[in-house]
Amino acid sequence: MNLTLKIWRQKGPQDKGRMVDYKVTDISEHMSFLEMMDVLNEGLVAKNEEPVAFDHDCREGICGACSLHINGEPHGPDRGITTCQLHMRMFNDGDTIHIEPWRAKAFPVIKDLVVDRTAFERIQQAGAYISVNTSGNTQDANSIPIPKKDADLSMDAAACIGCGACVASCKNSSAMLFVGAKVSQFALLPQGRVEAKERVMNMVKQMDEEGFGNCTNTGACEVECPKGISLENIARMNREYLKASI
Ligand code: SF4
Ligand code: FES
Repeated sequence: MNLTLKIWRQKGPQDKGRMVDYKVTDISEHMSFLEMMDVLNEGLVAKNEEPVAFDHDCREGICGACSLHINGEPHGPDRGITTCQLHMRMFNDGDTIHIEPWRAKAFPVIKDLVVDRTAFERIQQAGAYISVNTSGNTQDANSIPIPKKDADLSMDAAACIGCGACVASCKNSSAMLFVGAKVSQFALLPQGRVEAKERVMNMVKQMDEEGFGNCTNTGACEVECPKGISLENIARMNREYLKASI
């Protein structure tokens, strides 16, 4: 395949940034999207030009680093996958592909396609933990019965990889799907009930302080989430918040 890429280039946080056109040729349909980006960068380096900066790490859908907005969709046109799992067979020879970073006030651009997502880490630090007695008298986890339905729902919520696609897809730049997942994975288990009130209050407070918007039930986050995190997690977080408030 021969493709035209329109890529956001931005030298640093203070730079205004602009879209730049590139051509890539002989791209195999079996390549991943990031391998196609590697081909582009190898060509740019060979010409002594600055390669395009983009985030990636595991390249197998686990770490959540590969945050690319492709043709107007976080993680591109496929469903239930991250950018690193997107394959070039989703595109056609001669296509023009627009590639941009996540767009949200709370995710400022560091360079080109790389954004600062440490806001998510600060939200997790505000409450995504439990306290366990490790003095030697720790209760065996298997001695705490947990209904299978609750365990399954908690595991589903824990599948969130913190990629930020929910924020990038939301017209309000809301982080409520992410925070809802993080609150839910603990709220559903007895181990998480001990600090449940402080957790939801502190995480929501931090979310607001970081500048994320509110949820208006559009549901774009659920559609674009690579891990199928359900909107039910937002509803559960709202219930937890209401209970903690009163
Ligand atoms: S809820 Fe989904 S889209 Fe949002 S950070 Fe988690 S995995 Fe990514
Ligand atoms: S590079 Fe880790 S999820 Fe894509």
